[in-house]
Order: sequence, then C-alpha cells, then structure tokens
Amino acid sequence: MPDDSLTVKDNRPGKTYEIPITDGTVRAIDFRQMKASEDDFGLMTYDPAFTNTASCRSEVTFIDGDVGILEYRGYPIEQLAEQSTYLETAFLILYGHLPNKQELEEWTHNITYHTMLHENIKKFVEGFRYDAHPMGMIVGTVGALSTFYPDARHIDDPESREMQTWRLIAKMPTLAAFCYRHNRGLPYVYPDNELTYAGNFLNMLWRMGETDYKPDPVLEKAINVLFILHADHEQNCSANAMRAVGSSKTDPYSATAAAAAALYGPLHGGANEEVIHMLTEIGDKKRIPEFVQKFKSGEGRLMGFGHRVYKNYDPRAKIIKRTAEEVLDLTGRNPLLDIAMELERIALEDEYFVSRKLYPNVDFYSGIIYQALGFPVEMFPVLFAIPRTAGWLAQWREMVVDPEQKIARPRQIYTGDRGLKYVPIGKR
Ligand code: CMC
Repeated sequence: MPDDSLTVKDNRPGKTYEIPITDGTVRAIDFRQMKASEDDFGLMTYDPAFTNTASCRSEVTFIDGDVGILEYRGYPIEQLAEQSTYLETAFLILYGHLPNKQELEEWTHNITYHTMLHENIKKFVEGFRYDAHPMGMIVGTVGALSTFYPDARHIDDPESREMQTWRLIAKMPTLAAFCYRHNRGLPYVYPDNELTYAGNFLNMLWRMGETDYKPDPVLEKAINVLFILHADHEQNCSANAMRAVGSSKTDPYSATAAAAAALYGPLHGGANEEVIHMLTEIGDKKRIPEFVQKFKSGEGRLMGFGHRVYKNYDPRAKIIKRTAEEVLDLTGRNPLLDIAMELERIALEDEYFVSRKLYPNVDFYSGIIYQALGFPVEMFPVLFAIPRTAGWLAQWREMVVDPEQKIARPRQIYTGDRGLKYVPIGKR
C-alpha cells in the first residue's frame, strides 16, 4: 500500500477503499465509488463555505495563515510593498514573473492608453441617484462594460483575454473616480497619461481648477502600497465568485461585476467601512473595554479582526499600520488611529481573541488611511476593488485555461419535502 494514500472503511457494506493523496489532498470524487447499496448515488463530501476544500490549483498567491506569510508568485508582500509599484505587481500577478524594462514599458503603455471610458458610460453613471453607494455603481457599471466590448465574450481567444485584461485594469480607476465625482456633484476629470497609475487616480478624484495636477508623493506612495497589498488574496469570496461565474464562460466584465458584488459585503471588502463606523461609535479609548465585552458576548463583531485563513497577524495589516502612521504625519493625527491601536492592544491580550487566534486583518487600519486621504467611507470598498481587479483577472485567466476546470456546480444535501400533492388555492 503506497504511503501517500488513505485507507477508508465504509462500515455500511463493510468495504475498504484506498484513496490516493496528492499534494496533501484527496479528491472528493474518489468517495463517490463508496455506496451503501448498488443503487446508492455514492458518498459525497459536505463542506459548507468551503472551509476545507481546495477548488483549484493555483500558482498566483501563496498564504501561510498560521505563520502570517503572503506571497505573490513567490515574492513576499513586504518586498513588493517596499520596492514595487502597483502596475509592476499587477504584471507579476498576471504573468508570473517580474517584468523586464521593456515589458514594463509596454505594459504601462497598454494600461495607460485604455483608461478612457466611452462617453455613454458617463450618462450611465449620471443615471444613479446623487447618494448612490459608489460600490453599487461600480458593480453596475463594470458589468455594463460588457455591452461596450462584445468581443469580450470570446474568452477562449488569448488575444481577447489580453485586451479585456488591459481594459479592466485601466478603466477601473476611471470608473471609480467618475462614481466618486458623481456623488459630489463635481465634473468628471479625464485621465492624464503623463501621471502614474496611482497619481492619475488621485488626479481624477481631486483635481479642481489647476491646469497641471501634481499628486503629493507621500499620498501617491500610500495608494501604491495599499493597491499592492490588495492586489490578490488567493481563493477569497470575490475570487471564488470570479472563478465560479467565469466558469460558465461568461465575459470577464460580467464576472468582474459578480466579484465586485461579493466584495461589497461587510464580511469581505465592506469590513473597512464597518471598522470606521465601529471606531467612531466607540469614540473614546475609555469605552473600549465595554465594546470588547459586547463583541465577546456575540453582540456584534470586532470588525477588522479575524480571518478565515490567517490565524496570526495578517502581514498586510502590519504594513498598513506603518503606512497609516506615515500618512497621518502628513495629514494630521486622526483620533481614530489612537482608538484602533488601543483596541488592538486590549484585544490581543484578551483570552477570547487569543484562544480563537483573532488578529487584525487588512481592513483594521486601511480605513483610517483612506479617511486621512479624504475619502468618504462609501469609497472604501471601491478602493479595494480597483487593485483587486488584477487578482480577479489572474484567477480568471488561470481558470479559463485549466483543463481540470468545468462549470462550477456544487452538490447539495436535500432537506425539503418530496412528492407532495398540489392543492388548488381555494382548498389550502
Ligand atoms: N469578533 C468577535 N468574534 C469573532 C470575530 C470578530 N471579528 N471573528 C471571529 N470571531 C469568533 C466567532 O464568533 C467564532 O467564535 P465561536 O467559536 O465561539 O463561535 C470564532 O471566532 C470563529 O469565527 P468564524 O466566524 O467561524 O470564522 P470565519 O473563518 O467563518 O470568519 C471572518 C472569518 C473574517 C468572516 C470573521 O473573522 C469576521 O467576521 N471578522 C470581522 C469582519 C472582517 O474583519 N472581515 C474582513 C476579512 S479580511 C478582508 C478580506 O479578505 O476580505
């Protein structure tokens, strides 16, 4: 019997099976052969919320949640945050290697020259109410892009995939800035091709009357770092949505809209918005113990704490905490940072959080930076969605060419009624 196998005895018929183990994993389909009787469907595995199920093989992002390691294509996140730019990191995530000088120039050119939006998209944005949540607007408008680029449906054509990749990464900041300015009642600012990806985003958000907008280098660097940290995070809820929706061979704009919708939720990309609400509600360091007590008794959650994969300090949170201090040195101290740091200190000494291995995640400090940069809380998940587009696309591109992948279609354990007799409405 090979070592890398699992011997399973099904006590119902008393039969023994040998299941191969590959990469520390058994295949759920290998259990189907185990039947209680000849006409039995076969054994299934049950894993709501995929807590112990690998849904794909991936070379994009590595996480060791116990140690607190995050690597894109093998490069530690700390090195990329320190030395790379968002566009270079996006290239790395998508193509698997750091670009050489010429590759980076071409890539930057291709992204820069696809930043414009069709003028009709502006009208589309204008159709939203003045107080529409910008993330809801992003979900709608990014999905609408599929109607502007019908060629995107040729997902098996590598050239088409490449073109849609450029377009999506290039247009997300423009869409986000248009949604933001719509909410503010400000005229839209068109992309400036002389600026960097992060610098141009700031230009489209904040430019007023000046003819020559020059982004503050500290803020431009902070956006770059935040974008790098949010670029991918393996099989999280939105990446899973991108892959699952994309597996039906829909176009990448529609799949990105689904991924963005997943990111909108308060347990995923919406958490940093919730963190600010929570810190504001706490309002004073003195009230922290009272709130911690509430979280422990299940009355609400300590937002920005805990993670499905990290059972240690999220490495992104460490970098963000440093960046928050740099940004706040420039923009002025935000009392919420002091509350957050004290809250972290108290929680990390509390048995409830320690025993459950609940540490600050990426969202705990990111909202404080976004607020210091001048963003309203509704923009926070949008600021997550822009850089995550590279990750979604990398996951989608991997899925499209993976011969093992098929349309995602889980099984269920049916718990409802069977075979009822229809009763006419007058007799119910
Ligand atoms: N505050 C208080 N208790 C918590 C928290 C929290 N933030 N997170 C988990 N717990 C408790 C939970 O009640 C449970 O306790 P018990 O075993 O007594 O029932 C235990 O810890 C395990 O929690 P879980 O809900 O089974 O863990 P999960 O892996 O399903 O959830 C999570 C992960 C991130 C959804 C959750 O930790 C959470 O809701 N955190 C707050 C929201 C948040 O910060 N989300 C951002 C995630 S990171 C960004 C991203 O990747 O999108």
